[in-house]
Amino acid sequence: MHKDIERILFSKEDIDGIVSDMAERINNDFAGKEIIAVVVLKGSIMFGADLVRKLSADTSIDFIQASSYGFGTDSTGNIKIKKDLDFDIEGKHVLIIEDIIDSGRTLSLLKKNFKERNAASVSIASLLSKPSRRVIDVEIEYIGAEIPDEFVVGYGLDYAEKYRGLEYIGILKREIYSK
Ligand code: IMP
Ligand code: MG
Repeated sequence: MHKDIERILFSKEDIDGIVSDMAERINNDFAGKEIIAVVVLKGSIMFGADLVRKLSADTSIDFIQASSYGFGTDSTGNIKIKKDLDFDIEGKHVLIIEDIIDSGRTLSLLKKNFKERNAASVSIASLLSKPSRRVIDVEIEYIGAEIPDEFVVGYGLDYAEKYRGLEYIGILKREIYSK
């Protein structure tokens, strides 16, 4: 275990089980449809890579990166997008793939933004959720696991761009981010 980790919350095997369960639910719901999987950079790349490999529907992959600070609303209430989609999503079934939902701001803005582009449907698949931190009530169609209000890293999730490569998800020691 990395020295900065307090304890492991989900092992590699736990994560595989969570992702498989979620894929099964998505496969039931999207049978016979085509999906555009929108992986939210950067934290969701590991989860996106694993989830998409378990989907049975024909799935295209695209990426989006929203600005992380100030959570990306400008004066018009639009999201600030650092890297936009390559695809036109009009009439398509979009599955947003996100690592973790905290306040809910990022996902509620992304969902609204994609609906405005006239997607046929917009669903969210979030690996983790911290329900006690929610500020905006956004419907999340697929949640892998709910976690307490702790800062977690690994499997794509970072603190100051570190720890993304850990194979497990662990709680970061408080001394690391309270410095
Ligand atoms: P929200 O808009 O507040 O829901 O922000 C969600 C984003 O905050 C996620 O996509 C992560 O980038 C980041 N985040 C929230 N909690 C954690 C955490 O515990 N570890 C790492 N990143 C987190
Ligand atoms: Mg993120």
